[in-house]
Amino acid sequence: MNYKEYIAGKLNIDGVDKDTLITFIEIPPNTDMGDFALPCFKLSKILRSSPIQIAENLASSFECDGTVKECTAVNGYLNFKINRDDFAITLLSEILDKGDLYGSDKIGEGKTVCIDYSSINIAKPFHIGHLSTTVIGSALCKIFRFLGYKVVGINHLGDYGTQFGKLIVAFKLWSSEQAVKEGRLKELTRIYVKFHDQAKLNPKLDDEARHYFKLIEDGDEESNKLFELFKKITLEEVDKIYKLLNVSFDSYAGESFYNDKMAPIVEELKEKNLLKESDGASIVDLEEYDMPPCLILKSDGSSLYATRDIAAAVYRKNTYNFDKNLYVVAYQQNLHFKQFFKVLELMGKEWAKDCIHVAYGMVSLESGSMSTRQGKVVLLEDVIAKTIEKAYKVIEEKNPDLKDKERTARAVGTGAVIFGALCNNKIKDIVFSYDRVLSFEGETCPYVQYTVARCNSILNKCGEPDKYQLPSINADEYAVLNELGRFKEVVKSAADKYEPSLVTRYALDLASAFNKFYFTCKIAGEEQNIRNFRLSITKAVKTVLTNALGLLGIETVEEM
Ligand code: ARG
Repeated sequence: MNYKEYIAGKLNIDGVDKDTLITFIEIPPNTDMGDFALPCFKLSKILRSSPIQIAENLASSFECDGTVKECTAVNGYLNFKINRDDFAITLLSEILDKGDLYGSDKIGEGKTVCIDYSSINIAKPFHIGHLSTTVIGSALCKIFRFLGYKVVGINHLGDYGTQFGKLIVAFKLWSSEQAVKEGRLKELTRIYVKFHDQAKLNPKLDDEARHYFKLIEDGDEESNKLFELFKKITLEEVDKIYKLLNVSFDSYAGESFYNDKMAPIVEELKEKNLLKESDGASIVDLEEYDMPPCLILKSDGSSLYATRDIAAAVYRKNTYNFDKNLYVVAYQQNLHFKQFFKVLELMGKEWAKDCIHVAYGMVSLESGSMSTRQGKVVLLEDVIAKTIEKAYKVIEEKNPDLKDKERTARAVGTGAVIFGALCNNKIKDIVFSYDRVLSFEGETCPYVQYTVARCNSILNKCGEPDKYQLPSINADEYAVLNELGRFKEVVKSAADKYEPSLVTRYALDLASAFNKFYFTCKIAGEEQNIRNFRLSITKAVKTVLTNALGLLGIETVEEM
């Protein structure tokens, strides 16, 4: 039963369609006054009347029934009380029936969403700056899939540019296949840094790098072999991190994939009279839209980041026929996306409106918590390893007899990193703190995982819930039911707003409602009916928390 829909259907207000009305109806934070509420100030403009007047008029004409038992006007709000017994019975049985599918939906059926995320650069370290795009993008993939959409997760690899010429030169001078295979990404970073140091003294190295880059582009066999080796090493290394974070992709088509797909785009731009010459370069003038020009070709005829993004967007439309094409990329690139979306629009691609930049803030590390080793970047791998190690220590301290300490530490450690990155509205900058993400108190993953483990231990001790006659529901029980009832809606708005943190916050709210219930409501020693009702609540909470964490890529543990 969708109560908002039901209430909206019964209200029937002239000039306000049902769907809009549904979005106006809220679940009040304190359900003493009502289980649902309509803030009538939202209708003031449309109905040209005061909220108090509107609430009173609506209350007097509302016909209560077996589902909505009470409707009252209070200070410009219309408050509804529902039949909580029906609500509890239907909700709990649906959650227990559907299990890990509870909360999933078919609204996305037949629709496709492309999600460009993580999009790392080949031969460059995978650092803490990539954490957000990776976990936000991965969570969005899981959320959209859960809602029935076909999702194409794309790692738009940064595998094009003169830096690959530089790497080849550096490789030939200071490394070997053997050294790269052993030293992996660290070796590649080492020679890349060395190249930059040396090129300052010897600018000829840069010319050589350009030469080798050209060779890659021209299909030279040896250069391409090396380039493929660098790519392979990088992908193997980052894959370890992706596995830990439960992240996967459907496509690794990176920038170089579009090498042969840009010429037709440039042609099209020319044909549509969009291309202008500027100091030998080809640009699309965006002055009219208050933006600097979008660079399409450099004076030497080579393409740019934007050129490849335009080609990629066209390719994605042709290949996947997306309904939405999302880019989970830091806000520093706001202008880039605005520019090339505008170019797509000017090219007459009506689907340009379906391309969306999902921007997020920066992640930095709390100072002093890890040396950045003389200005070097903080590797994501090290952050995760250190969090797992710290989690292991905490477990040793708190529960030394735990069976699978290593697996638990891994789930808790990686969970803490993911949850920490998904805890706040994505546009906010975050400062990562080991102690904070690993704390068992406050807004953390261990707190939620611990709640799941608590549900488990209750169920292990008392057994699975049996049939019961619904007892009268107390306030703490209802608070949990109320949270449980919000899950579906939360998942949908996380997708609508591209905001996985809504799921994170939700998990915290549900965990906290459950813990309050746990402290005030006995389970084990209670009489049959109450006991089974409370066990059903416990099992439902375990199910929904597990599903919520699953959408974020976080595993739960039986015990901790
Ligand atoms: N590789 C780029 C970077 O690290 C991000 C690419 C994002 N995706 C895109 N289609 N532009 O900055």
